[in-house]
Amino acid sequence: MTREEPLLFTTYPELKETVPWIPLLTGIPTPIDRLENLEINLELNSEGRIYIKRDDIAHHIYGGNKLRKFEFIFGKAIDNKKTGMITIGGIGSNHCLACAIVAKELNMRCDLFLFPQPLTWHVQRSLLLYNHFGANLHFSNSFITLALKVLGFRLTHPKSHLMFPGGSLLFGLGSPIGTLGFVNAVFELKTQIDAGVIDEPDAIFVAGGSGGTAAGLVLGCKLLGLITKVHITAVSMDWIINKSNVIKNASKALKYLREHNDFVPDIAIQENDFEIIEGYLGSDYGVKTERGQRAIDLVMELEGNSSGFILETTYTGKAMAAMIDYCSQGENKSKKVLFWNTYNSNDLDQYLNQTDLNYKSLPKRFHRFYENNTFQCWQIKDCPEKEQCPAYLNHEYRCWRVKNCSEQDRKNCKAYRELRHNIHLENA
Ligand SMILES: Cc1ncc(COP(=O)(O)O)c(C=O)c1O
Repeated sequence: MTREEPLLFTTYPELKETVPWIPLLTGIPTPIDRLENLEINLELNSEGRIYIKRDDIAHHIYGGNKLRKFEFIFGKAIDNKKTGMITIGGIGSNHCLACAIVAKELNMRCDLFLFPQPLTWHVQRSLLLYNHFGANLHFSNSFITLALKVLGFRLTHPKSHLMFPGGSLLFGLGSPIGTLGFVNAVFELKTQIDAGVIDEPDAIFVAGGSGGTAAGLVLGCKLLGLITKVHITAVSMDWIINKSNVIKNASKALKYLREHNDFVPDIAIQENDFEIIEGYLGSDYGVKTERGQRAIDLVMELEGNSSGFILETTYTGKAMAAMIDYCSQGENKSKKVLFWNTYNSNDLDQYLNQTDLNYKSLPKRFHRFYENNTFQCWQIKDCPEKEQCPAYLNHEYRCWRVKNCSEQDRKNCKAYRELRHNIHLENA
């Protein structure tokens, strides 16, 4: 596949000779849309703007934030003659799904080391898809055992490259190369600002899981001298996403760039260059929260499915809730705000259908995540019309929101009566 080189290489041509990179993205520059209905709903004044960066369609199979990182990480693995990729994530990890899809596209082996997270249809769906895209699945309930399993596997499989969770640094360790994907993304944003597609934003809102995406955005904004401040909504535990780790990640990426090209300016990433917003996570990674779900419902109601993107409850719903709260404050009503959409919006149902939803094709230890665990109306009712139903295979629990069921419909629905007890929205 041919594609123009990253803008980072155009600006600093020496990087091209030494920094590994392969083209994976098929939809860049990703478009920037305006969320005008949300602007009206939040009563922004005439200067206020809310934009969304549509990374959800950065790739024809799997959009979202992963592949920007993978262009560099898989590039490095291939440069090092690796034929496989090992990575780590929760049982519903989008990072692991993206890894499985890209490894298959590149004809590489893929080994996913998975740890538990709150069980949802999204998790069940992810496991089926990892398997469909040919990944080998490993699991442990304990992080320590999982880490030992990864180390053992890595030693016995030297042709496989180990990518840390989220494709980021782990406690400051590892390679910062994935972060370059989001430094480059800011160079892409700058061309869109220069072309008048968007005003220079006062704030970018993004979800922070491992923090690599955000660290790249922070570094990119500072390198290009943008006024933009990155607001990182913490969606994982504070020992993972915190100021010190974001600074370490961004600084290590900068050091890497400067080692490969002295023209990259020597700047320091400081605490006041960005914000970390706490209070939206809930009690643990992956739990569904009131504010996150409310933000999803509001944006879907106002912008509708025609906007083409979807939000979810682990990452983007929480970041959207934080952005809505920010824009609702009087002093921010004239701000120009960009929501960086990190979640895939391409339809994966065609792949899911090919699995026949048959969890028994997964290794046996994963079957318990399906047995007696039902989250969707069509899982309960075995509805004869399910394939025509807009709720069929949807990601979220609340099928009656997708279908816009009336109160009366709900009262009559056996699935609704059973399912609503499976919905736990935390008060965060
Ligand atoms: C949809 C989505 N948004 C945001 C993130 C967080 O990205 P990062 O790990 O770079 O902080 C992830 C990570 O898996 C994700 O899946």
